[in-house]
Amino acid sequence: MKKPIAIDLFSGCGGLTEGLVQAGFRVIAGAEIRPEARSAYQANHPRVRLFDDVRVVSLCSIQARHKIERGQLDLLAACPPCQGFSSLRTKNHTNPVRDQRNNLIFEVLRIVGELLPKAILIENVPGLLTNWRIDDFRRALKKFGYKTNQGVLDAADFGVPQRRKRMIFIGLLGEVEPSIPEATHAVPVTVRDVLQHLPSWDANDAPVLHRMRQRFSPEVQNRINCIPKNGGSRRHLGTEAQLDCHKRQQGFNDVYGRLSWDKVSVTITRSCHNPSKGRYLHPEENRALTLHEAMLLQGFPPDYILPTDRGIEKTASLIGEAFPPPFASAQARHIRRLLKDRV
Ligand SMILES: C[S@@+](CC[C@H](N)C(=O)[O-])C[C@H]1O[C@@H](n2cnc3c(N)ncnc32)[C@H](O)[C@@H]1O
Repeated sequence: MKKPIAIDLFSGCGGLTEGLVQAGFRVIAGAEIRPEARSAYQANHPRVRLFDDVRVVSLCSIQARHKIERGQLDLLAACPPCQGFSSLRTKNHTNPVRDQRNNLIFEVLRIVGELLPKAILIENVPGLLTNWRIDDFRRALKKFGYKTNQGVLDAADFGVPQRRKRMIFIGLLGEVEPSIPEATHAVPVTVRDVLQHLPSWDANDAPVLHRMRQRFSPEVQNRINCIPKNGGSRRHLGTEAQLDCHKRQQGFNDVYGRLSWDKVSVTITRSCHNPSKGRYLHPEENRALTLHEAMLLQGFPPDYILPTDRGIEKTASLIGEAFPPPFASAQARHIRRLLKDRV
């Protein structure tokens, strides 16, 4: 049977593409501007034509490589940059409206107008749902002939060992309003399920990414050693033993916390390597999560290729910004069913 074809805009290191491929799509093109993300994407998905700036993607530029006419693409999927809408940015009092990246969602609209895909999938932080841009986006899609629907779903309900709430927006060309997928996993996959069997980070056969983790000053390391195993946090240390800067950080209870073996992890962000930004300590070893562990908590296959020579921060940001492949794959399978029902 012929595979449905898809394009993945704002491709990052390829989390969404990985999910699309797992769901049986053939991804013909992507667009990603950051060099380290481009090289990771191409290492894992070498056959996909990867544009750099999304602003150069057009029907014409795609036709240079693929025989495709307007209306033939099955799915246009996109994860526009979400820093401007994230609740963290808003909490830090930066102005989300001024972030130029927020307007990149209208590039998706331009490309929809040119390609007229049968279905559209957008993933973003829930903050986008209360922004005027999503209303404009929806109205413009209606004019192109799409019915749309959206919801806030949790990756943990789709087999990702992580609490991660994200807006899922689906558009379908024609008269039928698309449904939003139901949870596929009543019992969550836990931190233990994906991390406990791993070799020690210093074992000879440990992947290079499993050696990559943040190191601490002796003072911080001493306090980490005291944090109770399996879900403990710095609050358990009592006021005396906490660093002065931590005492001042009211409301950030996850900072220097350990993950719990039998729960899902907290949201893996671009700072997932850094326990001073969240609950990113190993459940029982006195150390930060390794990049390999963070990648597994995002649902990437263990052999997924990510840069090991660009510094911890850059690779952590590729991991943290990805659409977890099992979550993406569940959305893509749902869209396949919607497209099938339509014919
Ligand atoms: C949320 S991340 C995408 C994550 C990706 N979908 C995944 O699953 O791994 C957004 C990406 O958009 C990229 N980006 C930002 N501006 C861009 C532009 N003008 N053209 C192409 N990519 C851009 C960023 O570098 C970032 O990697």
